[in-house]
Amino acid sequence: MSVSALVGLQWGDEGKGKIVDVLSRSVEIIVRAQGGANAGHTVKVGDKTHILHLVPSGVIEPRSVGVIGNGVVVDPVQLVKEIKNLEAAGVAVRNRLLLSDRAHLVLGWHKALDVALEVARGAQALGTTKRGIGPTYSDKASRSGIRVGDLLRPDQFRARVREEGGLRNRLLAALGHAPVDPEAVADEALQTLDDLRPLITDTVAFLLQAHAADRHILLEGAQGALLDVDLGTYPFVTSSNCHVGGLLAGSGLPPRALDRVLGVSKAYCTRVGAGPFPSELQGPLESALRERGREFGATTGRPRRCGWLDLVALRYAVLTNGVDEIALMKSDVLVGLGPISVVTHYRIDGQVHRDFPAGEALGRVEPVLRELGPIEDFVGRGSTETELPRVLRDLVALIEDETRARVSVVSVGPERSQTIFRS
Ligand code: GDP
Ligand code: IMO
Ligand code: MG
Repeated sequence: MSVSALVGLQWGDEGKGKIVDVLSRSVEIIVRAQGGANAGHTVKVGDKTHILHLVPSGVIEPRSVGVIGNGVVVDPVQLVKEIKNLEAAGVAVRNRLLLSDRAHLVLGWHKALDVALEVARGAQALGTTKRGIGPTYSDKASRSGIRVGDLLRPDQFRARVREEGGLRNRLLAALGHAPVDPEAVADEALQTLDDLRPLITDTVAFLLQAHAADRHILLEGAQGALLDVDLGTYPFVTSSNCHVGGLLAGSGLPPRALDRVLGVSKAYCTRVGAGPFPSELQGPLESALRERGREFGATTGRPRRCGWLDLVALRYAVLTNGVDEIALMKSDVLVGLGPISVVTHYRIDGQVHRDFPAGEALGRVEPVLRELGPIEDFVGRGSTETELPRVLRDLVALIEDETRARVSVVSVGPERSQTIFRS
């Protein structure tokens, strides 16, 4: 197995950071390939909790090399801050982190425009993380972006910032927002150069070489299948392809390099931000899930919306990504909650649907539930499959039956040790 991809199968925050950390001991190179600092990946080691936004979660393992690939949108100020925070927490990453010269830069006006566009959308706001993600990917697609490699030629960089900044300020003014000072934007970005210069390289060439040398590479997806700009609940999505295809394009590795796709799903479902959520709960059950699961955003601190596991959406995510194995996360959160349920299919205008619909039909879904019963206490009770309580085993069997993917990992807590590998 030389190249594996790990993707979120829901609306993000599935527990990708934990699983990447657990896998990183058997992986040499961990790559972020899409998204930006909208991601918040949590790794808990002993009494230390690290939240990673741009740096791959695998770097907590000291022998690994982290790569921020060409498909990531990079806020240079945030990246330097994150590297320094990790160093302060005893994780030295500088000499084993590479940053793609092709990655696009998130600059001051991208963040200002993210806010301005959300305000302009009013009641239709998407609930973005305000990290400048949409405006940066828009600039990339409209071919007016500024890339990490441009930082290495400060004079040309400053000229480009003046040019683009002038245009963006006209847009900000039209939306009734204050301009950003292009000189300050350029200064701020260039101040990161001393820290970032040693990291900037052609990561595509590096990864192709590593692959040719059969080194074990893990592509760490950010966000999740249902936030994918093509396959997700558009327009309530992020601006990148969180799909496994985005991980390939965003790293430069060819599709045939991929040996294995691991999908990550919670044993229930959450979503942060606006948009359809067919299995969403209301009232005390939702609050109970949020409290037990500590469902508050790792990037923005916002409360996450909570609901039952949605097998229609999960099957769609597994099939579109070609997922081989599933890591089922946060199953401990369901212990003691009372009888748990899953959504087995949808009813839309009286018709049964097993395929995940696009667009406005999602707003009209009546979820059809199957109650599985309560999950008995088992946390800390060993680490073999047979020790899982019956209702949890039923849930695993149902997921495997619906998705045809194997549930190879059941996570029963945030710690590394709270991970059950199914043989
Ligand atoms: P990511 O964005 O997919 O990496 O997920 P986040 O880090 O945003 O959110 C997952 C949260 O759940 C983090 O606080 C993790 O520490 C925590 N977590 C991960 N796995 C488990 C688990 O099996 N049980 C519990 N109780 N918490 C978990
Ligand atoms: P990780 O990698 C959960 C959501 C935002 C919003 C929508 C668009 O930690 O799983 P954006 O700022 O990307 O333009 O916001 O996408 N979102 C996430 N939700 N986890 C994430 O990342 C997310 N990244 C973006 O809440 O609804
Ligand atoms: Mg997260």
